[in-house]
Amino acid sequence: MNKVSVVKSHRDLHRAGKRTVFVFPGYEEISRYLAREWQGIATMSIEERGRFAAALSGGNTPTHFYAALPGLTSAALWNNTHLFMVDERFVPRDDKASNYRMMRETLLDNVPIPESNVHAVITERVTLTGAAENYEQDIRAFFNPLPGEFPCFDFILLGIGEDGHTASLFPGTPALLEEQRTAVPVLSGEARHDRITLTLPVLNNARNVCFLVIGGHKADIVNRIVSDRDPSLPASLVNPEKGTLSFILDREAGLHISCVSKEART
Ligand code: 6PG
Repeated sequence: MNKVSVVKSHRDLHRAGKRTVFVFPGYEEISRYLAREWQGIATMSIEERGRFAAALSGGNTPTHFYAALPGLTSAALWNNTHLFMVDERFVPRDDKASNYRMMRETLLDNVPIPESNVHAVITERVTLTGAAENYEQDIRAFFNPLPGEFPCFDFILLGIGEDGHTASLFPGTPALLEEQRTAVPVLSGEARHDRITLTLPVLNNARNVCFLVIGGHKADIVNRIVSDRDPSLPASLVNPEKGTLSFILDREAGLHISCVSKEART
């Protein structure tokens, strides 16, 4: 059963512990809430560790939220923010399928974040395996984890596909079973591009993990993940050991779940 918490601020959310499910009337309310959470977690992270390290997902869902973040105008916040990719398609960074291109257009070109604070997956003039290895080196050089430890992101934003995948961790694929690596290559199946993805141990080592899901076409899969915790679905396996886990849903995506922590009306 999800913990039922009345959450007023990111600090409450931090204390609220494990798992919180929010259903909002629509995406406008979600973007306002998430931008406040972003600012709160970033401020707390910078106060405590001198930086805010976030990993962002691609796809279509987060674009409206990313476009709202330029509303946060503090140069001090962006100077100390480092943005990484949860996953990336193995295409040139100016390709229309590139997650980096989407983030560049919705967010990166519209905030005063130093270029050196943007950690893209370099997908040009490199093999798929080489791209994953280079990205893993970039991440580990930034976090400098002890041997056997995983990088600890302050915030990770995830989506959910209609097959229950998250990041580029698809049902029944080898990447889902990875227990050592930080980032791995994913060979495409069906119509998907080859990809590079963060691994499950990294997602589960984060301080704050947030699933953002919009639309009635995701209601069934969301219910299987949030209510049933169906272990056959990769998104069900995201459960941060020490961090918070929140599901941010619009009414349509949350239609079938019975364990809403808070009908948010912000
Ligand atoms: C990607 C994403 C992926 C996404 C889900 C949901 O590269 O596509 O990282 O994991 O979050 O597929 O995608 P939509 O938001 O487009 O439904």
